[in-house]
Amino acid sequence: MTPDALIAKAVEVRRKAHAPYSKYLVGAALLAKDGRVFVGCNVENASYGLTCCAERNAVFAAVAAGAKKFVAVAVVTANGGSPCGACRQVLREFGPKLLVIMATPKGKAVAATLDDLLPGSFGPEHLK
Ligand code: THU
Repeated sequence: MTPDALIAKAVEVRRKAHAPYSKYLVGAALLAKDGRVFVGCNVENASYGLTCCAERNAVFAAVAAGAKKFVAVAVVTANGGSPCGACRQVLREFGPKLLVIMATPKGKAVAATLDDLLPGSFGPEHLK
């Protein structure tokens, strides 16, 4: 799957975001090593703190489907924003080498590894 195709999946799911409070729609498409793509959008709540980000919803869908090895994630927002700290840590659980593509709906994108976005991170190996 090309980066553009992954971005297109994130653009598509972003349309389903439930973000009536912030109006900041986020779509995430997570590419697993086996070629499957898992998507998530942000889901806000009237009790604001219960909101869950697009990236985490994509990760949780993937894990529930039996995927834990990932190659890349595309995150689409109006302004190409980057994943929040909580989502970086949740993604980190499955490996620091993940490619994170941050894009706008028009496909303007920048990419970084999770290692770049979360240097010196804590992971499962620290519990061994
Ligand atoms: N949001 C995400 O979905 N992912 C991020 O990494 C940053 C923030 C959502 C949460 C909330 O619904 C809205 O964006 C504004 O914070």
